Amino acid sequence: MTMRCFPLTLALLTCSWLAGARAATELVIQTDQPGARISPSMWGIFFEDINLGADGGLYAELVKNRSFEFPDPLMGWQALSNPAGAGTIEVREDNPLTPANPHYLRLRVTEPGQGWGVANEGFRGMGLRRGANYRFSIQARQAGGGSPRLRIELASATGSRLAVSILDHFGNTWQTRTALLRAGATDAKAQLRLVMEGTGTLDLDMVSLFPEHTWKDRPNGLRADLVQLLAELKPGFVRFPGGCIVEGHWLTNRYQWKTTIGPVAERKLIMNRWNDEFKHRPTPDYYQSFGLGFFEFFQLCEDIGAAPLPILNCGMACQFNSGELAPVDQLEPYIQDALDLIEFANGPASSRWGAPRAAMGHPQPFHLTMLGVGNEQWGSQYFERYERFATALRAQHPEIKLVAGAGPSPADERFNLAWARLRELKADIVDEHCYDKPAWFLDHANRYDQYDRNGPKVFMGEYAAQSVQTVSPDNRNDWGCALAEAAYMTGLERNADVVVMSSYAPLLAHVDGWQWTPDLIWFDNRRAFASPSYYVQQLFSRNRGDFVLPTRLTGVGATPRLYASASRDQAHGEIILKFVNATGEDQRVNVNLAGTGRVTGKARVTVLTAAELGQENTLDHPLRVAPQTRTVKPEGPQFEQTFLRYSVTVLRIKAP
Ligand code: AHR
Repeated sequence: MTMRCFPLTLALLTCSWLAGARAATELVIQTDQPGARISPSMWGIFFEDINLGADGGLYAELVKNRSFEFPDPLMGWQALSNPAGAGTIEVREDNPLTPANPHYLRLRVTEPGQGWGVANEGFRGMGLRRGANYRFSIQARQAGGGSPRLRIELASATGSRLAVSILDHFGNTWQTRTALLRAGATDAKAQLRLVMEGTGTLDLDMVSLFPEHTWKDRPNGLRADLVQLLAELKPGFVRFPGGCIVEGHWLTNRYQWKTTIGPVAERKLIMNRWNDEFKHRPTPDYYQSFGLGFFEFFQLCEDIGAAPLPILNCGMACQFNSGELAPVDQLEPYIQDALDLIEFANGPASSRWGAPRAAMGHPQPFHLTMLGVGNEQWGSQYFERYERFATALRAQHPEIKLVAGAGPSPADERFNLAWARLRELKADIVDEHCYDKPAWFLDHANRYDQYDRNGPKVFMGEYAAQSVQTVSPDNRNDWGCALAEAAYMTGLERNADVVVMSSYAPLLAHVDGWQWTPDLIWFDNRRAFASPSYYVQQLFSRNRGDFVLPTRLTGVGATPRLYASASRDQAHGEIILKFVNATGEDQRVNVNLAGTGRVTGKARVTVLTAAELGQENTLDHPLRVAPQTRTVKPEGPQFEQTFLRYSVTVLRIKAP
């Protein structure tokens, strides 16, 4: 497709309360007929540990395989070449730190030479920033005699030393030792070295390096720049932890929340199910340390003002993989996990599961109000399991809303069956998933106009426009996809009486370690950028409004591709109009705020557009496609507005 390029200047953010020929297209917003309340959870986020989303991403730990628990216990580690020295490097299991973490490293040096030791490569390198501090910690004990010293070094990709610290006087039982290292240079591919000086034997485990500056500067914390991007979305909820990761290839590697809380050394590592899922994107070093576990999830939700939506395994492994089932009469432990999670989130600090939450520093409850039973399940096996969960959960926790899945497709036999059964089972909310071409999203913006208003509410729990096709590694995060999503989202908002939640998927992707594209936010070890789809999500979530206002768009011709939704923001006394022009022409529209006597103050106009549908943001050009805002003085409740070709526009107009 050939595109006309134009300079993107504020002058082009055209909101013309201008005289001129009357536009043929008319948009009437019935401002005096507020409709459905828009749920505060309307626009949320879905976090899954895919694409190095947790380990190597949001979780700020820089050491990969810190506990030597990968099946290849030295994966990520390398012996430092030292021809002048002699010694051994051995992974052992006797007398470990904890039973959940049975392996550790033994360094034995008989001839130190220039230093005998190992290096950790991090997650595709370690991102260091010049002048920033890094917290090193390790579990260590001395075995046998001598007085070994351990030199902790940060080294650049080219091998130069960027920071150093020495630990000595080790005891003969496991002890936590720490050091603070200041990086002498910026490097995206640095490594950590543990070098023995002198002779002797040291046992080492839980080798950890975190930036001192994490989100809220918490130890064992999250990457501040990534959380900042999440916070700036102002998400109404966070769906966590998946996704297929909830299900596992087999039930043995399903996500089990109880193994993700408490001291990090006691969180049992498992293989990440995205490790070997795609032959075209193998990631053999992808494991789940659960350093970002359920406590951190709840804490993150609280920090960014989002409602938590945990998704739990319902006794079914991924139906795209083994489809293994826990027999229906053996679901009790799965259901108990769900009940216990509610207690972990909401129970008093004195309760069985409230106590570990309090011990982790949060005696107050996390205010959990909803829970997902299963992820992307389908078929009768799902419904019978869902029913068991629902019966038990409703009996003990009628206050918790239950989210049930409608399978992987937004319109097929499985989907229809799911809706029929879940309606009978009176699910509160049904989670629909949709990955399709941009054209699908443009064509289905009216999908919910005719939905049954009396059954369960809708959660559009996973969606993203795919420029090529689902799971193609060639999918692009381009403006064309984002624009189609925006068009579709006007339909979600217009139908806020039935659609109560939605989230784009997946959320995060490491540029060197992804399995699935497109994604909302991309990052490397030092930087991050938001995709055009991110800015679409942000425009909607930060301009949500409280009530839907009816809109009527007329005179758009045969192939409309113009989309609008409107809402009222009560607190600010504003009418919010979202308008998507998915045509290749600028569109002049006569906008009529019907029922409004007058408009006051300045209106805010935000436009998101790009020179071409194929444009993307990158690490080096993070703001190529980003919103621009200006204020204008409205002249009255009727005005003409030019909506730029291929653009999303949000107008906020004060109308008391
Ligand atoms: O978002 C990626 C995957 O797509 C999710 O894990 C799964 O629920 C869906 O199939």
